[in-house]
Amino acid sequence: MAGPLPDGDQAPVDGLLSLEEIKGSEARTFHAYVHIPFCKDICGYCDFNTYTATQLGSLKQSDYAASLISEIRFSAQALEQSKLLPRKFSTVFFGGGTPSLLPAADLIEILSSLEQTFGFTENAEITTEANPDTVTFEKFAALRQAGFNRVSIGMQSGVQSVLDTLERSHNPENVFKAFEIVKGLGFGTSLDLIFGAPGESLEQWRESLEAAIALEPDHLSAYSLIVEPGTKLARQIKSGELAEPDEDLQAEKYELTEQLLSAAGYTWYEISNWSKSESLQSDHNLAYWMGQDWWGYGPGAHSHLGSVRWWNQKHPLSYSKKLEDKISPAVGRELLSIDTAKLERVMLESRTSKGMSISDLEQLEAGAKSRIPQLIADGLIDGQLAIKGRLVLTLRGRLLADAVVRELTD
Ligand SMILES: C[S@@+](CC[C@H](N)C(=O)[O-])C[C@H]1O[C@@H](n2cnc3c(N)ncnc32)[C@H](O)[C@@H]1O
Ligand code: SF4
Repeated sequence: MAGPLPDGDQAPVDGLLSLEEIKGSEARTFHAYVHIPFCKDICGYCDFNTYTATQLGSLKQSDYAASLISEIRFSAQALEQSKLLPRKFSTVFFGGGTPSLLPAADLIEILSSLEQTFGFTENAEITTEANPDTVTFEKFAALRQAGFNRVSIGMQSGVQSVLDTLERSHNPENVFKAFEIVKGLGFGTSLDLIFGAPGESLEQWRESLEAAIALEPDHLSAYSLIVEPGTKLARQIKSGELAEPDEDLQAEKYELTEQLLSAAGYTWYEISNWSKSESLQSDHNLAYWMGQDWWGYGPGAHSHLGSVRWWNQKHPLSYSKKLEDKISPAVGRELLSIDTAKLERVMLESRTSKGMSISDLEQLEAGAKSRIPQLIADGLIDGQLAIKGRLVLTLRGRLLADAVVRELTD
């Protein structure tokens, strides 16, 4: 979702998919991503497709749910006309932006529309992201009652000076309060953390991890800060106002993350994700990594179905206009070639703790198997698991995952 949209081919205005394009879809699970492109302020490091009220001009946040519901209806019609058998959603993820900025009634209306149109599988995982300073008991009690069952809170850091550098609007106390509210309401819980803010020391990162662990969330994501081109943070680093994240210190922080989280009973299941048990992993994230089908609703959202990927108009105004005109809000699409699909499969599956079957890998990339002994000797792939036929990264391999994938696919 970050950065400019890719180029790609023009997407058809009726959103239809050919029989050839949907081949294989019926064997896959189906997932919904719902993008809420609003934030109170824009954090200096963020290049997600999100806007403040001032940036939106004439577009009212209160009209947004209606546009999303139009896209939900449009998607059902396009899939039916493409002769795809109806499938229920196994997961729904409201992300942003800041979904928790919208009134609960709007979020609930969107969720009900998804449920009435497609249905949900039994025990479907229904998550919303939330910024700590937008969590109130009333709003989240209403969401819980309407069927949301998981909340991912953007904690980012437990240290005030780091939150200030990241230009977050909340303080550590807000995280605690928000967490207690959602936990008390019976939601599954996840915390997002970022390591590597300019000036953040290893000790400060330890403090953040300890604060997060003390809350005992079910799940944690820890992301290495990416300095996205065009952001305020990138300009501050370029002008020398802020220091660039140091690669060696980032690696030390990642190692500390693994050390503290595993000591606290969390197990990694993807490079940036840990959970307290297998059943508490994020089914929605796993669906992306395992190449399942999903429809991304909202401006700039990406979808993946069969062998096609498409993406929507980026600006909320042009997105809403297309739906008012009763045409697809998609602006571009890409038919995944066999080679691209192979490369993506290796890239995504090898980042998970389940890893990849080595025989599947050899079928996808002839000759890849012969490179495994050297990767084991370099300490990048687990030798014991390789004997059992699985390609799984070691801790060192997780730090150098992109290089491992290049070695296996070049
Ligand atoms: C799209 S944000 C939405 C969550 C929510 N708005 C918030 O910020 O609390 C999802 C997560 O992406 C991560 N993120 C966003 N920009 C990032 C960047 N430049 N580098 C690393 N992680 C980033 C943050 O951890 C954030 O919680
Ligand atoms: S609150 Fe979240 S989505 Fe909004 S600008 Fe900050 S990081 Fe980006």
